[in-house]
Amino acid sequence: MTNITTEITEGILTITINRESKMNALNIETLQEIKQAVIEGNENPEVVGMILTGAGTKAFAAGADISEFANFNVEKGTQMSADGHDVMNTIEDGHMHQWDGTKTKFVVAAVNGYALGGGCELAMACHMRIASSNAKFGQPEVNLGVPPGYGGTQRLIQLIGKGRALEMLLTGDAIDAQTALNYGLVTKVVDQAELLTVCREVVKKVASKSPSAVHKILKCVSDFYRPNVNGMQREIYEFGSAFSTEDFSEGTDAFLNKRKAEFKR
Ligand code: COA
Repeated sequence: MTNITTEITEGILTITINRESKMNALNIETLQEIKQAVIEGNENPEVVGMILTGAGTKAFAAGADISEFANFNVEKGTQMSADGHDVMNTIEDGHMHQWDGTKTKFVVAAVNGYALGGGCELAMACHMRIASSNAKFGQPEVNLGVPPGYGGTQRLIQLIGKGRALEMLLTGDAIDAQTALNYGLVTKVVDQAELLTVCREVVKKVASKSPSAVHKILKCVSDFYRPNVNGMQREIYEFGSAFSTEDFSEGTDAFLNKRKAEFKR
């Protein structure tokens, strides 16, 4: 992997986009490396959750690499978008790629600066976003003659609603971290120096819960947005099937015996 770095500390896999001199712009290779790292994180039993961030203090990712796609034709542009969607879906919905029963793990975006275009889309594909106070979010593709291509037109509406999404998409204007918090695009804004610590605490907290229930919640929530899938039916199935899991026995036994549940990974 040449464009990202990965490290596992206390079971938390941190994936860092490492193209600081290019504002961590996402060329195609970088996106594929992120996808591979997330798949490995989902499959690695040592990993309890993941953090996705950008190197340096200025950018999470300032979008797709404009110099790479500037000469693309329709065919290449279409492929670029389809491949990008696949990367985002792998982060959000790991289970779709995991027919072997591997659990989808929680991924938090530690947004440490500009999250523009594909960078904003990448953050939105994560299950939660925590921003440093200097972060900026935007979908400036309209200035380049294209719409967003990695799910931005869809996930932005899901997260902040149609009116605000259209304002951002049509003007291309970026919003600051506080506005992103007000819009619900991020759940916390913290000092940059605290960002990774706060993200680690959130990952640890989720990791202390039932892995099987976390996986089921991620599946059900994803299904809310999937056309032709009935999320209520999915919930009934996931709730019922949970009764055969060790996590259910442990969680209920712990409650009834007034002790802290210890879930197996
Ligand atoms: N693709 C390719 N290169 C990018 C890039 C991108 N999306 N974003 C930044 N870079 C490169 C710049 O070209 C520059 O490279 P250089 O030093 O070789 O000239 C380097 O990163 C630093 O960026 P620079 O523009 O000098 O920094 P800045 O602090 O003045 O501005 C941004 C930062 C993020 C506001 C500005 O780089 C920007 O607007 N980037 C493009 C954002 C965008 O349109 N994203 C959507 C892409 S679909």
